[in-house]
Amino acid sequence: MVSRVIPVDDFDLVIFGGTGDLARRKILPGLYRRFCAGQMPETARIIGAARSEHDTEEFRRIVREAILEFSSKHSCDEALIGDFLKRLDYVQVDARGEEGWNALKEMMREDVIKAYYFSVAPSLFGDIAERLMSHGIADDKARIVVEKPFGRDLASAKALNRDLAKHFDETQIYRIDHYLGKETVQNLMAVRFGNILFEPLWNSQYVDHIQITVAETVGVGGRGEYYDRSGAMRDMVQNHLMQLLCLIAMEPPSRFDPDAVRDEKLKVIRALEPIDHHHIVRGQYEATDTEPSYREDAGDPRSRTESFIALRCMISNWRWAGTPFFLRTGKKLKARNSEIAVVFKDAPHSIFGEEAGRHANLLSIRLQPNEGMTLKVTIKEPGPGGMRLIDVPLDMSFAEALGEDAEEITDAYERLIMDVIRGNQTLFMRGDEVEAAWAWTDPLIESWEARGDVPKPYEAYSSGPEEAAIMLHREGRRWREIKG
Ligand code: BG6
Repeated sequence: MVSRVIPVDDFDLVIFGGTGDLARRKILPGLYRRFCAGQMPETARIIGAARSEHDTEEFRRIVREAILEFSSKHSCDEALIGDFLKRLDYVQVDARGEEGWNALKEMMREDVIKAYYFSVAPSLFGDIAERLMSHGIADDKARIVVEKPFGRDLASAKALNRDLAKHFDETQIYRIDHYLGKETVQNLMAVRFGNILFEPLWNSQYVDHIQITVAETVGVGGRGEYYDRSGAMRDMVQNHLMQLLCLIAMEPPSRFDPDAVRDEKLKVIRALEPIDHHHIVRGQYEATDTEPSYREDAGDPRSRTESFIALRCMISNWRWAGTPFFLRTGKKLKARNSEIAVVFKDAPHSIFGEEAGRHANLLSIRLQPNEGMTLKVTIKEPGPGGMRLIDVPLDMSFAEALGEDAEEITDAYERLIMDVIRGNQTLFMRGDEVEAAWAWTDPLIESWEARGDVPKPYEAYSSGPEEAAIMLHREGRRWREIKG
């Protein structure tokens, strides 16, 4: 099945931090793939802006290498890469000084969409926003894109929002959470609101509990210093897992439009109850024979930052009162596996008798790898052995269903950047959403810091600390297995 590609309008996209890690790994290879798909107009341009002293030729060389390294082999075609590179320019700018801004202004065209991607440290957001305006480079239709971390607590997030709001309207600000650009995450909304099957059962009357797992096999080596100031709560839960929770738990918006969707997500965050410390488990991975421990990776033998966290969250509203949401994420776990599992309640009465066995339905939505969905249903065990019940999966892999290679599923960044050009904010976080997420997160972090809580050690490449399993066992539930 060939997906339909609708070209976007002509644009000039400036990437601040254009030679940085994120630009090389995600943004530029993503733009290249959109170019190959025929979505970029002939005349669209990408301008790398950074402090380093490069010229356009050098920038193109860096981008070429990035595409070869970070795009799948079969999407790399020398002729196409050559054509794509022709759209690239470079300008040296000083985010905190005056150098380069006039040159950038000269480069920008009139009458095309202007987008500015701030792929830089958040401490530079305000400076860049101010210079874009004071030099007359951005107009009131321009869009700015900002990356996480959007603050490290409520106060810093508010300060960032204030800095941006001095120069740009909320409708111009695109706060990226790349989880919202993942194919399956959007499918979550399609499944919930495009089918009549699930929504009537989507509440505490029928759902026993929900598990959201984002497990990674990588450690924090290489970015230990950043990570140690952040930890799994700030790095993953406050943003990515929170967004997944919102999409699973929100009420149906009246329309699939940016504010209707974001209003509903905000209500979920505001309805989250505080969590007491019995319902939070934090962990740190241990060393293996050949690999360092978390503390060694972090460069601090006494670090109390968590590389794993599991939480039991409750949402205080009519739909979800009484249904726990278990969230879990960590580094150096058994497999790279991200999944949302909706575990339904047992049927109220078994007409087959207890000896036939009881099986709850389960809907598993796989984010990665092998994006897809499985619905576990109960059937009769085949054969003459009487009425014995077993579970079978109704399995759907998106790649198979769409007849595409899994590799061809559009990467989150590609989709989100094209949404910026289209002016569609649905998959971006609004300022009040980010603030509400911090308002819920802050007291939890403050509380474990005040208690001097020390994360539990866990074996690298395991399922995390035993205490996380015990947290569920206490109430007769168990985590889904983490498997690749
Ligand atoms: C980033 C976090 O936002 O998301 C990383 O900072 C994490 O620590 C990454 O590894 C996970 O993203 P993905 O798309 O690989 O699941």
